[in-house]
Amino acid sequence: MSDNNQARDTFSSKFGVIAAAAGSAVGLGNIWKFPYITGVHGGAAFLFVYLGFILAIGIPIMLSELIIGRSSKRNAFGAFKVLAPGTPWRYIGILGVGAAFLILSFYGVVAGWSIQYISLSIQNGFTNKSPEQITSLFSTLIESPIKPVALQLVFMFATGAIVIVGVKKGIEKYTKILMPMLVVILIGLCIKSVSLDGAKAGLDFLFKPDFSKLNGDAILSALGHAFFTLSLGMGTLITYGSYINKENNLVRTVISVTVADTVIAILAGIAIFPAVFAFGIAPTEGPGLIFVTLPNVFHQMPGGFAFSILFFVLLTIAALTSSISILEVVVAYFKEEFNMGRKSSTVLATILISMLGILCSLSMGILSPYTLFGLSFFDLMDWISANLMLPVGGLFIAVFTGWFYGRKKVQAEVANGGNLSGAMLSLFMFLVKFIAPIAIAIVLLNKIGLLKFS
Ligand code: PFF
Repeated sequence: MSDNNQARDTFSSKFGVIAAAAGSAVGLGNIWKFPYITGVHGGAAFLFVYLGFILAIGIPIMLSELIIGRSSKRNAFGAFKVLAPGTPWRYIGILGVGAAFLILSFYGVVAGWSIQYISLSIQNGFTNKSPEQITSLFSTLIESPIKPVALQLVFMFATGAIVIVGVKKGIEKYTKILMPMLVVILIGLCIKSVSLDGAKAGLDFLFKPDFSKLNGDAILSALGHAFFTLSLGMGTLITYGSYINKENNLVRTVISVTVADTVIAILAGIAIFPAVFAFGIAPTEGPGLIFVTLPNVFHQMPGGFAFSILFFVLLTIAALTSSISILEVVVAYFKEEFNMGRKSSTVLATILISMLGILCSLSMGILSPYTLFGLSFFDLMDWISANLMLPVGGLFIAVFTGWFYGRKKVQAEVANGGNLSGAMLSLFMFLVKFIAPIAIAIVLLNKIGLLKFS
């Protein structure tokens, strides 16, 4: 075990921390996954449950992860060894490292699709195509055995290279300049989308809830997605928290990141659902939803050619700032627990994850006949990591902070560079001690059938 505290990086500026955490949170989860699972689970009711989970569970767990990381200065696994030596708490860290493997395996595949869409946009590949042709363009791409695999490898290579070289400055630039650009493009898309004929049905779908449509699967997915989109439950923000210096105001960081993440997801929803209904696409289309919907909007927009290139470039960069945070969890673990160098840890982790990624990609095409519990390999990696591993990890992180680490230490850690009034601290402790663990347990028990509420 190495004690390389001395050699640890810290984020230099206040903004650097928010930038890195926001870069991790905002990614494919907001723009690709949020609309597609909202569509699958029936729209508005799902959105409201998801927002409830963000507020009551996401925010307190994000603060917990940053507290654990900053006070221990270790990776997701080592943090628990420092704060709770000789106890089994460290296995939460192992669960997180496992989740990072699974998530990055399918994440890289979707990022590869986004790269392909940059190239299609440059070739003007969507003009004069009907919605049906645009849909088949997508299925032809993902079913092919070569191209998506190669693009996934390109993306993983880029992720690995950045993790080796380190790009704190690059991430700051992304959050300062490119993320606002992404917001502007999304707003442009929203305006076009809501002005399409038939757009109202899409807005109703997204904002008029029918809670009778909710079932246990939808509630579990909303919970899993609250974790996924905020990068919680697997120690990403423990790892990032470990690089944060004592002057940083953790509460402000948590609020900024959560607001940015949620606003971007909702904008993506407004950009997509009106168009889904206007072009007669099924909201339950699945993982292809944005890829089969947005090109229809682009090619009807003034400046759509430039818009679509820029959109997919920014989506790919957003994916990169998230994927490096996922890979960093594994790399920090290899590095600090096995005394490996940064370079060799990164190469090893990237190769292993890319191999899983190849299976994910092929499961869309030639391996599609092989399923487990009715899910393809791609869907299985997504389902297990987001709906099972992250909530279980989050449950234990909340219990650790609430019951083990305790109010006094929480107060001392948060008071470094920030403040939490007595009432806010009590609310936080109540959420991590009771609400988050109980809510997560109920949703999971309902899913495995031990408790029935829907
Ligand atoms: N939050 C990222 C997104 O929404 O795209 C994905 C992610 C990053 C999940 C980091 C988990 C994680 F630890």
